[in-house]
Amino acid sequence: MVTIQMKTSMPPQQIFQVLNGRWAAQILKTSVQLDVFSKIGTAAQDAKSIATAIGAEPHATEVMLNALCSLGFLEKKNGKYQLNELSQTYLVEDSPLYIGGFVTHDHVAEYWKDLTEVVRTGNPAVTVNNQQHAEEFFPKLAAGIFPLSYSTAHNVVNELKLSDLPAGSRALDIAAGSGVWSIPLAQQNKNVHVDALDFPSVLKVTREFTEREGVASQYSYIEGGWRQCKIESDKYDVIYLGHILHSEGMEESAAMLKECYRAMRPGGRIVIAEMIGNNEYSGPPSAQLFAVNMLVMTQKGCIFSEQELGDLLRKEGFKDVVRLRLQNWRDEDAPIMVATK
Ligand SMILES: C[S@@+](CC[C@H](N)C(=O)[O-])C[C@H]1O[C@@H](n2cnc3c(N)ncnc32)[C@H](O)[C@@H]1O
Repeated sequence: MVTIQMKTSMPPQQIFQVLNGRWAAQILKTSVQLDVFSKIGTAAQDAKSIATAIGAEPHATEVMLNALCSLGFLEKKNGKYQLNELSQTYLVEDSPLYIGGFVTHDHVAEYWKDLTEVVRTGNPAVTVNNQQHAEEFFPKLAAGIFPLSYSTAHNVVNELKLSDLPAGSRALDIAAGSGVWSIPLAQQNKNVHVDALDFPSVLKVTREFTEREGVASQYSYIEGGWRQCKIESDKYDVIYLGHILHSEGMEESAAMLKECYRAMRPGGRIVIAEMIGNNEYSGPPSAQLFAVNMLVMTQKGCIFSEQELGDLLRKEGFKDVVRLRLQNWRDEDAPIMVATK
């Protein structure tokens, strides 16, 4: 009889940790569906009173609350649960940055179930960025992810001192979605006028957000895909490319950067929010998992390394290319590249 030599120096738990990510996601969704965070509100409470407030069974509620603590959404002290800054800002229903709608509605699940076929064939499950799909897919997504980027966009204005831009300054928000990248600029600098460019059905969402955020009078709209739209030359002091290059892929991104360079005034700055992988493309997970999302959802979408995106920018003539580092933001949280014409 042959005895199989088993290796025992490597624990398998990492595999289970990855699989358990789906449990963590479901716990978060369930808590939002039960409105746990809004019901906890400002007062620390024990599990029993939270269970009563959400209309759920006390023991089950306690088990879930403990899991929420372990995931970093709640704090627990002397048997009482309270919100932390993360849950207070993003998971309480009356917060302006409430992200519950995005948590409970999975925009990509129906396409991700085909990942095995996507990898086998190299063909995406869907192409969300052609106009027909984009008009259906993006209005809801763009609204849902407003809270994802608002704080970052606000900090970018401070970091680049964009509130000092003089009267007559113009910004272009390409693939504006909710307008989340340019709205903080318009709020902090009343001198700036913004042109928001996106497909017509998405611009309806942009209009709703500019109204809601009190900056509608500072906005004009350019309707259509960026390749078809007329963008004037030498006009803009700031151009935002917020989470658009990744769905365009490498070649189209170069073309889009060329357009941006042409559209910008000398001295103007381009602000790019992107998924940035390390130079080996082996991390961080947030970027590399997103690259797989691009395989599923687009024909040519990709992520970039800092080096590669920097090279694309320099090739089109941009100078002073930098990766912006924001206080309190980890490197992988919301990568931003900035460059100057
Ligand atoms: C992931 S969303 C990002 C929206 C917003 N910039 C943000 O960061 O929240 C991508 C946006 O790009 C727009 N988009 C996709 N392809 C486009 C194209 N060819 N021309 C113009 N906009 C496009 C979509 O309609 C959508 O609003």
